[in-house]
Amino acid sequence: MSNEAQKDGTRIPGFYRLSIRERRSALRGIADLTDQDLETLERGGLDTGTADKIVENAVGVYALPLGVGLNFLVNQRDVLVPMAVEEPSVIAAASNAARMVREGGGFIAEADEPVMTAQIEIVDVADPDASASRLQAAAAELLALAHATLPRLAERGGGAREIEVRAHPRRVVVHVHVDCRNAMGANMVNTVAEALADRVAALAGGRSGLRILTNLCDRRCVRVRARVPAAALASKTMDGAAVRDGIVAASRFAEDDPYRAATHNKGIMNGVDAVVIATGNDWRGVEAGAHAFAAASGRYRPLATWRVENGDLVGRLEMPMALGTVGGTLHAHAGARLALKLVGVTDATELGMIVASAGLASNLAALRALATDGIQRGHMALHRRSSAASLPAHPQVSGGSP
Ligand code: MEV
Repeated sequence: MSNEAQKDGTRIPGFYRLSIRERRSALRGIADLTDQDLETLERGGLDTGTADKIVENAVGVYALPLGVGLNFLVNQRDVLVPMAVEEPSVIAAASNAARMVREGGGFIAEADEPVMTAQIEIVDVADPDASASRLQAAAAELLALAHATLPRLAERGGGAREIEVRAHPRRVVVHVHVDCRNAMGANMVNTVAEALADRVAALAGGRSGLRILTNLCDRRCVRVRARVPAAALASKTMDGAAVRDGIVAASRFAEDDPYRAATHNKGIMNGVDAVVIATGNDWRGVEAGAHAFAAASGRYRPLATWRVENGDLVGRLEMPMALGTVGGTLHAHAGARLALKLVGVTDATELGMIVASAGLASNLAALRALATDGIQRGHMALHRRSSAASLPAHPQVSGGSP
């Protein structure tokens, strides 16, 4: 599964100082890239003809910068982290934080089985509790029916795992939990929901309403931990212990205040989304799951928190992670396939652990900046660089002057 060539090649000191051509040739050696892969990097991985097959009313393709997050050690494996993002400093900051986490042994991650959940809503039920009892009694039959709906998934070791029945005041809702293996699984669970709806409605004595997945896929969570020795956090003006304590104080602010938690989580999603987008995954689904999970206690909470343990700074992040390494856009998007090749992963659960590590790294970088110099100094230096890129290359075309 892992790309052997990546074993110890993801630090690449001074990578940012290289030209794009030199960076590509450094990656070529590490990730075994072919000439065609380099061509894909140059062209962005999607042509207009393919775009026309993916969406309706296509008129072109829309590009984003693609970079690699460096220094990531996840479960003792070095990984290059492909990141597609328009915001300056996200990739540099995540790489910098990953270097600090590396000093404490790298990111330690674990994940649930890749279980997505279909919802079948039954309305017009006279007595939701009685309907729920009948459905519960028929759980084995419904589970077998769900499993039989996805024979190819069953061959790959996945399939329906559990039926759960939830009575609401005006409706009853059946959840079908499906192990989707390496697929994100939206199509699979939607198929199951539609296949079971009539039988579920008959058993419940009602009419089937909505039949669709839930993006609050809280049975498909990933958990990642990072330990950073205090000394690794020192800035030019603050010692490591002071920075560590500032980061913990920032975490507590997010735990106490949903307004701050939203921004804290946005910083996490800077890293998460960049990898999710680069690998051709549905980032709206990941976003929906993340924020629903953050609010699941009834109060919006930070997805990651930081504490002092034995003098070190320790961060923990938990969030749902619905990703695929097969299916979806991946068939069509050469850039997404190349990103998966760069990260060296074929297993969707493992990809989720790397994505979450990028999220925790981004959060650490943001909190460290906020606890020291403030965010604007580094951010604006990089922003000026990207603003320079917007100067018209051909002033005569834009009508402006240089
Ligand atoms: C900016 O994209 C993200 C931050 O606002 C995150 C945070 O405040 O923690 C810097």
